[in-house]
Amino acid sequence: MGVGNRNRPLWGGRFGDDAGAASRDFTASIYFDRRLLGLDIRGSIAHANTLARAGIITLDEASQLVEGLREVEGDILEGRSELSTEFEDIHTNVEVLLAEKLGPLAARLHTGRSRNDQVATDMHLFVKEEIDEVFDLIDGLRRAILDRARDHVETLLPGYTHMQRAQPVSFAHHLLAYFFMLTRDRHRFSECGRRADVSPLGAAALAGSGFPLDREFAAAELGFSGVYENAMDAVSDRDFVLEYLSAASLTMMHLSRLAEELVLWSSSEFGFIRLSEGYSTGSSIMPQKRNPDSAELIRGKSGRVYGRLLGLLTTMKGLPLAYNSDMQEDKEALFDATDTLKACLKVAAGAVATMEVRGANMESATLGGFLGATDAADYLVSRGVPFREAHGIVGEIVAHCESVGLELSDLGPADWRGFSADFGDDIVELIHPEGSVRRRDLPGGTGPAAVGSQIRRAKELLDG
Ligand code: ARG
Repeated sequence: MGVGNRNRPLWGGRFGDDAGAASRDFTASIYFDRRLLGLDIRGSIAHANTLARAGIITLDEASQLVEGLREVEGDILEGRSELSTEFEDIHTNVEVLLAEKLGPLAARLHTGRSRNDQVATDMHLFVKEEIDEVFDLIDGLRRAILDRARDHVETLLPGYTHMQRAQPVSFAHHLLAYFFMLTRDRHRFSECGRRADVSPLGAAALAGSGFPLDREFAAAELGFSGVYENAMDAVSDRDFVLEYLSAASLTMMHLSRLAEELVLWSSSEFGFIRLSEGYSTGSSIMPQKRNPDSAELIRGKSGRVYGRLLGLLTTMKGLPLAYNSDMQEDKEALFDATDTLKACLKVAAGAVATMEVRGANMESATLGGFLGATDAADYLVSRGVPFREAHGIVGEIVAHCESVGLELSDLGPADWRGFSADFGDDIVELIHPEGSVRRRDLPGGTGPAAVGSQIRRAKELLDG
């Protein structure tokens, strides 16, 4: 019996012929961890070179192993070899196929290594690669947002609090809020990537390899910046997966809020935007419908990503050190969450880049809803009226307008003065949305100069 024997599992030495048979389908992870093939091969190549460096195998044997591993990868990718549930996971499948190719030499590859440090290595490499892709996709969305913002510094719409019209803002200002939250998301992924950048190789099962392997060398071969300090930690740590899922959850929460606004804005009630056809669908019964499905699904899929985070946190809770099979559950969680996140980022960028902005509808919404009330109160303050008193006076004006069905813009100078002698003729101009926005030019404000600075800063952040 050896590695190449297809009738027994690799760990079958102490078992009879039925080893694992009844639960094979249940315990196998090959259905999903086949996705780690390329990374597993890379990890094994690094390990073969590390074994040679330690003099455990010859350089010639190492290069035969490396060659064989590359062929196994090609055979699987091109359909010449098949992965089988019989061999549990990707690691064992590769080893079995390698044995079929190289015979007894293949049996030397697993020297000083365990599937525990092997799978942990694959997962670290996977997270690092995903983060690079997520960077590009987040940047794609940030760019789409910034491009749209540039064109709408002068387009005004109501800003809302409590979902009630609050104060006029520029559409650029509103969009840029998402730019800066996505910048924080990107930063969270980069922090996660920094902590994932350590090699578990050499930890072996949990106690550290019994062979004097050069762990720093193995790490460098795989592009890791360092190695785990503690072998038990190295094989039982899934923090880096959980951090990835946390960063993904926060990003999904932001995407979901953006998506919700797209849904609202594209409704007939708002009419602020129209999603392009590519991001809308029709109804099978109501011919007039143009549904914002893409945005709704982004909103919906946020729940799915949070679920992956909560699921894995729960799986990890209470696991004694070191490796436990429970941890195999990390893969579907991570794969599903990252696929979902990437798809949502891509669709959000496309929807934002192609939506039609209905500036005229936005602007006319700024004329209703008493958006100038804060400005009117501020005006009285500038005339020496204490703010609380000013707030009370303008409150009365709003109540009056509501009772007679007027907007603030319908009032003339005499109407204003009826409530306070401190109102001058200029109040009529001052409460116009453009004036309101223009005055808010302090850093972070919605005024055109302040938004211009936000745009410059955003561009720096994107290009930096
Ligand atoms: N398929 C396993 C996983 O995904 C690989 C590690 C198995 N290690 C073990 N000792 N059974 O976690």
